Amino acid sequence: MNFQLIQFFTMEKTLDKTVSIKAFLLTLSLIFISSITLSLLKTSHSRFSLPLPFPFPSSSEKKCDVFTGKWVPHPQGPYYSNETCRLIVDQQNCIKFGRPDTEFMKWRWKPHDCELPLFDAAQFLEIVRGKSMAFVGDSVGRNQMESLVCLLAHEAYPLDISRNSSADVNYFKRWFYADYNFTLAAFWSPFLVKSGGAHINGHSINGLISLYLDEPDKAWTNEIEKFDYVIVSVGQWFFRPLLFYEAGRLLGCHICNQNNITSVSKYYAYKMAFRTAFRTLLSLKNYTGMTFLRTFLASHFENGDWDKGGNCPRTKPFTSNEVKLQEFNKEFYWVQVEELREAEEKGKKIGLTFELMNTTEIMWMRPDGHPNGYGHSMIKNASVYDCVHWCLPGPIDTLNEFLLYLMKKDVLRQLKAKLMRNA
Ligand SMILES: *[C@@H]1O[C@H](CO)[C@@H](O)[C@H](O)[C@H]1NC(C)=O
Ligand SMILES: *[C@@H]1O[C@H](CO)[C@@H](O)[C@H](O)[C@H]1NC(C)=O
Ligand SMILES: *[C@@H]1O[C@H](CO)[C@@H](O)[C@H](O)[C@H]1NC(C)=O
Ligand SMILES: *[C@@H]1O[C@H](CO)[C@@H](O)[C@H](O)[C@H]1NC(C)=O
Ligand SMILES: *[C@@H]1O[C@H](CO)[C@@H](O)[C@H](O)[C@H]1NC(C)=O
Ligand SMILES: *[C@@H]1O[C@H](CO)[C@@H](O)[C@H](O)[C@H]1NC(C)=O
Ligand SMILES: *[C@@H]1O[C@H](CO)[C@@H](O)[C@H](O)[C@H]1NC(C)=O
Repeated sequence: MNFQLIQFFTMEKTLDKTVSIKAFLLTLSLIFISSITLSLLKTSHSRFSLPLPFPFPSSSEKKCDVFTGKWVPHPQGPYYSNETCRLIVDQQNCIKFGRPDTEFMKWRWKPHDCELPLFDAAQFLEIVRGKSMAFVGDSVGRNQMESLVCLLAHEAYPLDISRNSSADVNYFKRWFYADYNFTLAAFWSPFLVKSGGAHINGHSINGLISLYLDEPDKAWTNEIEKFDYVIVSVGQWFFRPLLFYEAGRLLGCHICNQNNITSVSKYYAYKMAFRTAFRTLLSLKNYTGMTFLRTFLASHFENGDWDKGGNCPRTKPFTSNEVKLQEFNKEFYWVQVEELREAEEKGKKIGLTFELMNTTEIMWMRPDGHPNGYGHSMIKNASVYDCVHWCLPGPIDTLNEFLLYLMKKDVLRQLKAKLMRNA
């Protein structure tokens, strides 16, 4: 333990610019390394415990924007296969259903000014020991959770405890890592806000869905307070025909084909959905978790829409600027980033952390990462052209490299804050 503390203080030194803080921390280090460290750092408010399970980031990483970079070849290939992770669902098990090319699994994200560390399952599990994590949103969020389960698979397999908390076990998935007392959950809430009307469960494909833009969806908010990490992401469902309500009154609709109802843009609805979701997290008395916004992932249908014969047959990433992200996708991105920034400011005042997982552009570069025709739908036992979800293994694994990176940054930030407070 002492070794790790020494490592912390020596690394910490390089992180800080001002000489006074440097000197301050050095002095502290001499005091702390004696004996009182554990009791000091392990208070009940701590979201982590010592010894620290990972080396500290170098000073260059602190300045670096990990989200600006490019995809580079990674011939070592993916972390797992459909044989070493036995929990890949058919919808994303592209290799099982005969996808012939493998290059899409052999890239990694390289930030311009630093490295995005490879995913380290042991590190991840140490950080989340005794904690819980929730993915809130639609099936792409669940897709990321399933990637995480596979990334952890060579260290630990979870128990499926979905039935303990929900009857809808495909949409409300829950895993428990007994050796780590770690709970991982997916909350199905494709709009984040209350939805219903004619289509109560929101699973309806073509029907008109009512959204109550200022009322959070209890499907996730009822239980979210106890979670330590919450990853929020939604998107594709906002392209559907929707009716919008605010303060209980009909506000308007999006492509509802009723000329007596005002047309309201999907961007407005998207903005309000995030505002309501973040506002709810900010207002929950017992919520102390760290919130991530994983930004919108655009679909890659070419040669037609998803329901008009579109597909995504590419086998390589786009090279820079080869195909621009469409304006409507950018608009979704900006709208949610604005809401996140807003929540971040408010969160700071009450000690809640909101983090941007800025992955829209990064994943836009990866049209090669989808099942296309090589996945089987959860409902129908047949292949569908899927250019929304992502093959496992595949580029979506990178999102969890970002997740772990941000979690580590937060552990460090908390440790620093605690040291300052106790000085
Ligand atoms: C998000 O990342 C992209 C590059 O991937 C960058 O152009 C953009 O400025 C970033 N946005 C924010 C809000 O940091
Ligand atoms: C894995 O993929 C292979 C094809 O490469 C397939 O034959 C096998 O059934 C798959 N296994 C699982 C467990 O999905
Ligand atoms: C497991 O973690 C939960 C919090 O997620 C905590 O309340 C509980 O006491 C822990 N159980 C054990 C045996 O450590
Ligand atoms: C889930 O439910 C089963 C049976 O009802 C019970 O034995 C188990 O302890 C529960 N697990 C958790 C983690 O709550
Ligand atoms: C719009 O018109 C339809 C059918 O003409 C009617 O059922 C509906 O109640 C009307 N809605 C509003 C908000 O007036
Ligand atoms: C918050 O937690 C306290 C202590 O565990 C509990 O008494 C209280 O009911 C909780 N509040 C809410 C709103 O759940
Ligand atoms: C799925 O379809 C294939 C042939 O199309 C069939 O062999 C298989 O038994 C079916 N599986 C299920 C679970 O229905």
